[in-house]
Amino acid sequence: MKDTKTTVLTFQQCKQTGKKISMLTAYDYSTAKLMDSAGIDAILVGDSLGNVMLGYEDTISVTMEDMIHHGRAVSRGAKNAMVVVDMPFMSYQTSVYDAVVNAGRLMKEARANAVKLEGGAEICPQIKAITDAGIPVMAHLGLTPQSINAFGGFKVQGKTLEKAQKLLDNARAVEKAGAFSLTLECVPSALAKKITETLSIPTIGIGAGKDCNGQVLVYQDLLGMFSDFTPKFVKRYAEVGTMMKEAFENYISDLDNGNFPEKQHTYTIDEEIIKNLV
Ligand code: KIV
Repeated sequence: MKDTKTTVLTFQQCKQTGKKISMLTAYDYSTAKLMDSAGIDAILVGDSLGNVMLGYEDTISVTMEDMIHHGRAVSRGAKNAMVVVDMPFMSYQTSVYDAVVNAGRLMKEARANAVKLEGGAEICPQIKAITDAGIPVMAHLGLTPQSINAFGGFKVQGKTLEKAQKLLDNARAVEKAGAFSLTLECVPSALAKKITETLSIPTIGIGAGKDCNGQVLVYQDLLGMFSDFTPKFVKRYAEVGTMMKEAFENYISDLDNGNFPEKQHTYTIDEEIIKNLV
């Protein structure tokens, strides 16, 4: 159990000492509270909430209001974990001004400790302006789901020399623009290792091998609660989905069989009162 708040300084210390940064997504108060009490370093309110909470096929439709609503709930449950909230599609790509205003809303209204943006050199002016406003930025490169239509599908990124070089150049650019850390998604592990060794800010991998400075997973994947698709990089730590389904089935059959509610689940009243009701 951690007893101090994770900050950007903690991230930097982890980079220096080699202690791995643990990060998971969460979208609600109860889950955030459980993760926080388990000692997680950071919680990402990912726009993956579009997939796992709202049932969209991608993250494109997620709004600022969605992120604020879920971010606020997570912040209330996270005492020591750093809360990073994703900036949704088109909340920062449109202009530097929009980026700063919307990052500010996530800090003020969702009580985020940092924001995350997808993209490289093309969004460096936004990263610089947001960090200049005193808001820590986590960058995100590799498979950036908001660009799914440009990528043409969920594919590993940076496999050719040209693309690997571009990823490394973009990693250097976001660091220079002021990002305090960088998420690398679906990147070959040797390339993630090279980027991690090149940068002075920590990298957080998801499908990017073990040499990143930390790891992040979508919690429904880790708990076996989301079956629409399971990426290769997911490790399941529990079969909570199966347990939930069994519990729901047991509840339904208890109702059918009259086994619930039982006496201990009910409230009593003086029988005289019932008798005197007209
Ligand atoms: O939205 C999200 O959950 C993410 C992670 C996959 C890194 O961005």
